[in-house]
Amino acid sequence: MSSIITTIIAEVAAAADKDGQGDDPKAHALLLNSIQRLQLAAEKPPETAKRILYQPPTNAALRVAVELGLIDTVAARKDDPITAHQLAMQQSTEEILVIRVMRAITAMGLCNEPGPGIYSPNQVTRELATVGLRGGVKFLYDSFMPAAANIVKCLHQKEFSAPREARETPFFSANSATFFEWLKENPQQRTSFDSYMGINRKENPAWCEVFPITDQFSAGLREDPRSVLLVDVGGSHGHDLLKFKERYPGLPGRLILQDLPETINSLSGELSGIEKMAYNFYDHQPVNGARVYFFGAICHDWPDDDCVKFLSNTATAMERDYSTLLIRDLVVPETGASVRTAAKDIQMMSLFAGMERTESQWINLLSLCGLSLIKIWYSGNGAESVIEATVKH
Ligand SMILES: C[S@@+](CC[C@H](N)C(=O)[O-])C[C@H]1O[C@@H](n2cnc3c(N)ncnc32)[C@H](O)[C@@H]1O
Repeated sequence: MSSIITTIIAEVAAAADKDGQGDDPKAHALLLNSIQRLQLAAEKPPETAKRILYQPPTNAALRVAVELGLIDTVAARKDDPITAHQLAMQQSTEEILVIRVMRAITAMGLCNEPGPGIYSPNQVTRELATVGLRGGVKFLYDSFMPAAANIVKCLHQKEFSAPREARETPFFSANSATFFEWLKENPQQRTSFDSYMGINRKENPAWCEVFPITDQFSAGLREDPRSVLLVDVGGSHGHDLLKFKERYPGLPGRLILQDLPETINSLSGELSGIEKMAYNFYDHQPVNGARVYFFGAICHDWPDDDCVKFLSNTATAMERDYSTLLIRDLVVPETGASVRTAAKDIQMMSLFAGMERTESQWINLLSLCGLSLIKIWYSGNGAESVIEATVKH
């Protein structure tokens, strides 16, 4: 064994030990990072290249497995296996197709294969069968793959400059619609997208844990029940507000969920203690002087010019020395970004002409909106951070 591999194995063991001691996101991120370095050190260079080159077909297999209900059906078994023949009968599909698709699924570790053509669920199978992740598989594949197929042609046409607006993106070139126009026309994709948004950050600390709400806001909150505590702009189905309410049930003030009419109208029933408001953030912000305006995973969907328009609409409604703007998004490190961060940046560029921003790009963007950065609250594991800003003095 090469000495470099021996060294990394020792690092993996130490990182695993630390990770096992508690629920520290930083320790967990370090463990995954050291395992990735070990794999890279062990692989021959062509093996590394081919592992990456062959990712799209395996993603396609997962998309087909979800479409055929194979993941759900395997996940529904307690621990008892199911055969390819039974799966084919239940889903009215060809057995040989099931075998070929499930070969890719088991090879990726997404379910177990106790014998030829026999499958049993593991924890990942069960996770993939949840509504949110099933929605994620559909939404990410169906939105990104056609865009990816167009990216080279599209960039050629732009003489290899990054798209600056949604109508210049590979997504638009594939669909003749911007991403949000496409969602409006495709309610099933909208459902997949919204359900994925609801669980997207399940494995990470919630924004209201990364940003210490009570330390920052315990003094100075207005007791008047008509005052607004928190507005979640582009808050989808309210999952972040619900989490906030569960975590801080006693804080005074109204909680308001804003999103496009099609999103708000697709919400069935009431969200207890949360006011729903259809609002297009390109319009004047109707809620003035809230304590907090929260934008979760919004700015990365848009190029700077658009962010300046909608953040400025909210900046105008903010009360100087009282209102705070919180943005939850990635803050890309200047070096050593993770694969997921880099992939998301390419996804944002392809779908929206958006981008994942570095700290200096965030500071510049805020300053264009009359805002200044107070502090970036890092999550510790390379997941999204909370960017705290206020109206410039
Ligand atoms: C990436 S999702 C983020 C959802 C949620 N904030 C989260 O972090 O999970 C972007 C959200 O912005 C909403 N959105 C897009 N364009 C909008 C607009 N012009 N006005 C208001 N909301 C908009 C979408 O409907 C969607 O719910």
